[in-house]
Amino acid sequence: MDELVALCKRRGFLFQSSEIYGGLQGAYDYGPLGVELKNNLKAAWWSAMVHERDDVEGLDASILTHRSVLHYSGHEETFTDPLVDCRACKKRSRADHIEDGKCPYCGSDSLTEPRPFNLMFKTSIGPVDDGVDIAYLRPETAQAIFTNFKNVVDSTSRQMPFGIAQIGKAFRNEITPRNFIFRVREFEQMELEFFVQPGTDEAWHQTWVESRLAWWREQGVSSNHLSCYDVPKEELAHYSKATVDIMYRFPHGVEELEGVANRTDFDLGSHTKQQGELDIQASVQPNTDSTAKLAIQDRETKQWVVPYVIEPSAGVDRGVLAVLNEAYTVEQLEDGKERTVLRLPAHLAPIKAAVIPLKRNHQEIVSKAQSLRSDLQRLGLGRIFFENSGNIGKSYRKHDEVGTPFCLTIDFESLETDTVTVRDRDSMKQIRLETAELPSYLATNLVS
Ligand code: GAP
Repeated sequence: MDELVALCKRRGFLFQSSEIYGGLQGAYDYGPLGVELKNNLKAAWWSAMVHERDDVEGLDASILTHRSVLHYSGHEETFTDPLVDCRACKKRSRADHIEDGKCPYCGSDSLTEPRPFNLMFKTSIGPVDDGVDIAYLRPETAQAIFTNFKNVVDSTSRQMPFGIAQIGKAFRNEITPRNFIFRVREFEQMELEFFVQPGTDEAWHQTWVESRLAWWREQGVSSNHLSCYDVPKEELAHYSKATVDIMYRFPHGVEELEGVANRTDFDLGSHTKQQGELDIQASVQPNTDSTAKLAIQDRETKQWVVPYVIEPSAGVDRGVLAVLNEAYTVEQLEDGKERTVLRLPAHLAPIKAAVIPLKRNHQEIVSKAQSLRSDLQRLGLGRIFFENSGNIGKSYRKHDEVGTPFCLTIDFESLETDTVTVRDRDSMKQIRLETAELPSYLATNLVS
């Protein structure tokens, strides 16, 4: 983990948030390469979950969430972690992170009894903070999918089975954020709520677990490092009938990467029931329109059904950590030297190709490299980088370390023959291609 953290900082993947003021605990900022990697991972998810399927619609809902939503979803009451205080050093810990009854900070065994601590971030809406008009930063993206269920069904005429997908920020006031970006207070989720006929839910649950495992393998995560954990009944979230956690062997241990839950009709049912009742906030008009039920009408039978929901919910940040960890390799070279290489699948690589002039001050070589870079950038394959450090060996080492699949070097021969050398990150082999061949070569080889 330490090596990964150091690489992320050195090469601009991840920085501690508010670092110049000592750092904000539980928050990280994605740097120039981190944002590319993260966007590529999210794009791969969106493509697999929305574009490649014909039964999923997308959504991008607000982060600020009406209090009623999180009241009736059960989060106000049950979204808690057990917290203990250390009487000696006054630090707080999660009760389930305490080993041998001792404070993890100072080792004292003078600890309070566990008490529930709600993880949601509360905020006030409007200029007067009178404690009435409060809202929450969403603790999961899922709730806005449920509250928009009718809007999406009415605007798309979907029938079951179908899903609504969303990627976005979620916030949890974790008692002990730790392990780099594994457990943070501000993170992103990639969530699908897949609505199915009650009775078909268990089969769909299994299907989704398999499909999600396959997707993680496509992101370069080895199946040897993935496993499934059937969450025991007593550990299930309040909304779940069954949950399978997809576990990954992170550098700090085997932990949850994604949860695939069978949420039954808990959420749609709960939000529907509350619509006829008085809302907890006086300013909200109760919705008594019976057609606002979060149900779907079967076109054939005309019956209204509250669907069951299967929810694959993955953490973007945990995903980034997993793919970085999988890709990070330190190799022993024949000459006895070491090289660090990030063997990312090409579709995730932050930079797809680096164009390198052999001589940094040779005008003709530099301008040929610059125009090649712009031509290749226009192909829409992702970021093409102009690398003019002047030291070809250093450039190769840098691009190995950040996972750039191809280095394209412009040398003297390039000026004569309109060719470039193409160096492959993984094999380090070099071939010479005509520049006209590059678009199809890259398009073919950047697909992973
Ligand atoms: N809507 C269901 C839900 O939120 P969850 O298991 O609490 O379920 C889903 O969260 C995923 O979100 C987790 O598998 C994890 O990848 C990610 N996640 C949850 N809490 C996190 C945190 N504090 N930091 C980073 N990622 C987190």
